[in-house]
Amino acid sequence: MGMIRESIRTMRYCAPEKKIYIWGLLALFIVDAADATSPYFLKWGMQAAEVGAEPPEIQKWLPESWFGPDAPWHGMWVYALAYCLVVFLACYFRYWMAMTFSKAAINITTRMRSDFYAHIQRLPATWHDRATVGTVMSLATNDMDACRFFWNMGMLLFFDTLYYFAITPVVMGSLSLELTLICLIPLPLIPVIVIVLSKKIEDRFESVQEQFSTLSEQAHESFAGSKVVKSFAIEDRQVEQYAKLSREHQKRSMKLALVQTLQNPALLLLLGLCDFIVVIYGGFLVLNGEMLKAEFVPFFFALMRLTHPMIALGMVIAIFQRGNVSRRRIEEVMSIAPAIVDAPDATVVERPRGEVEFKHLTFAYMPDSPPALTDVSLRVPAGSMVALAGEVGSGKTTLLNLVARLYDPPAGTVFIDGVDIRKLKMEWLRRNVAVVPQETFLFSETISENIAYGLSHITPDPDKLKYYARVANVESDILELSSGYDTMLGERGVNLSGGQKQRISIARALACEAPILILDDCLSAVDTQTEEAILYALKKEARGRTTFIVSHRVSTLRNADTIIVLERGKIIERGSHDELLASGGWYATLDKLQQLEAGTA
Ligand SMILES: Nc1ncnc2c1ncn2[C@@H]1O[C@H](COP(=O)(O)OP(=O)(O)O)[C@@H](O)[C@H]1O
Ligand SMILES: [Mg+2]
Repeated sequence: MGMIRESIRTMRYCAPEKKIYIWGLLALFIVDAADATSPYFLKWGMQAAEVGAEPPEIQKWLPESWFGPDAPWHGMWVYALAYCLVVFLACYFRYWMAMTFSKAAINITTRMRSDFYAHIQRLPATWHDRATVGTVMSLATNDMDACRFFWNMGMLLFFDTLYYFAITPVVMGSLSLELTLICLIPLPLIPVIVIVLSKKIEDRFESVQEQFSTLSEQAHESFAGSKVVKSFAIEDRQVEQYAKLSREHQKRSMKLALVQTLQNPALLLLLGLCDFIVVIYGGFLVLNGEMLKAEFVPFFFALMRLTHPMIALGMVIAIFQRGNVSRRRIEEVMSIAPAIVDAPDATVVERPRGEVEFKHLTFAYMPDSPPALTDVSLRVPAGSMVALAGEVGSGKTTLLNLVARLYDPPAGTVFIDGVDIRKLKMEWLRRNVAVVPQETFLFSETISENIAYGLSHITPDPDKLKYYARVANVESDILELSSGYDTMLGERGVNLSGGQKQRISIARALACEAPILILDDCLSAVDTQTEEAILYALKKEARGRTTFIVSHRVSTLRNADTIIVLERGKIIERGSHDELLASGGWYATLDKLQQLEAGTA
């Protein structure tokens, strides 16, 4: 039962939801208890209707005129009606309980997710270099979903089965103690089956998840590196390798399915054994006159009611296992110490303006590797827009990552509002520097949840989210979807195009309302026209917001106040669009090339 112990260990995430869960469990108890009384109504009804049978005890408390040969169905209607009322009551509480559990699960995963998101941004460079977007994606979507399912359906079904297995034997015992004791003999086998199968499921599920990560990585790599792949004509090899990985994933999934599908039949077989005993032994008691038919039928009925929790038990095991594997995968990442921690005397800037300055910044990823940036000096006035251009690997991303302090620059080289960023609190930086990375990722959540992502510390205002979706030029796309802003994304939802994803990521960054905004080549999948529309809206909206933008399109770059061209970590050109054209350097050549391309297109 290690899995239960482990599950309890994660309770710290659900501690704040204690109240919600207590209400939910109370409602669930009412539902199950109401449900468990149904055999009594059957028994009383049968007793009332059976001519010559002893009327049920309870009838003494009810008006006599309701019963007897003259009453409809000998008064059975009383019990039928009462049963309907009980069912109605149970339905009401069932709804209430389902809502409660969903709410708690959503709260818990929201907290987990924002912890996770905040955490991965602070992980050491060495982790990011190893972990691909594929891994992060599958953690943030697949594994988070499994966790949410655990906290919602998992918890609900777990207690549901628990209550059922506690209440039903009591009901059965009150009908016939002897028969109860005998027919429940096979039940101790349940924990045995559960333990054996759950261990197997856990191992196999873990191996499926691992393979899934590898698969996503491979898919991502061949996609991201598709230019390289094409130019070296190694497509076939890539395809072959992907197919091999995919076959392995399929094989492992099949092995998992094998034990999973075994579970329900095994548990139901056990229940069938109980049924068998009841029919044989109970039949014998009835024939001998030791048990009434009006007791035997409700007894059997009560036993049948265990079918549902038996199936639920199988589901609980699967959900707990998945949840545990996923939680462990997430916690593994969460337990890596962040690379960059606050200095003991870390401060904040109370009213940030967003001025950024680089002073003779030379930066290397490793002490002994060649610098990715060499002697970069640049002052970016608050509220201005700087565009970065340059070949792949020239250091654009590196420079911007240092503003967000994803890596640690040397002391005295990067400043925000005149304060060395090494002296600023990480928490403050995260809130005041909004980054849209080159590779965006969205979560399997609704669109509005995705846009509100960076706002975990405040309740998002829906109008504000919509406003930023408009600025990012994605609102019309969103409204075309069937559920608009409430459309689920990802595996269980809609798949957006690359450009739509990029624009939602921009809306997400804008919604943070940070004074510094970094757009690292994040419009690559958007067509030129849309890109221009976004930039236009951004410029209007960005007043007072310092913006860095990386792009390969002159049509984008030219809008900036200053354009910086990097080459092998050095600034080789700087100035406005016209100035750079006049100087006839790298930028002027880029402009000429793109005009030629536009001409031929
Ligand atoms: N995480 C990293 N670890 C080590 N070297 C890196 C890392 N990221 C980038 N580099 C190196 O730093 C240089 C600049 O890369 P980058 O800033 O990504 O350029 P750009 O964004 O202009 O394409 C390249 O030589 C690249 O290989
Ligand atoms: Mg880059």
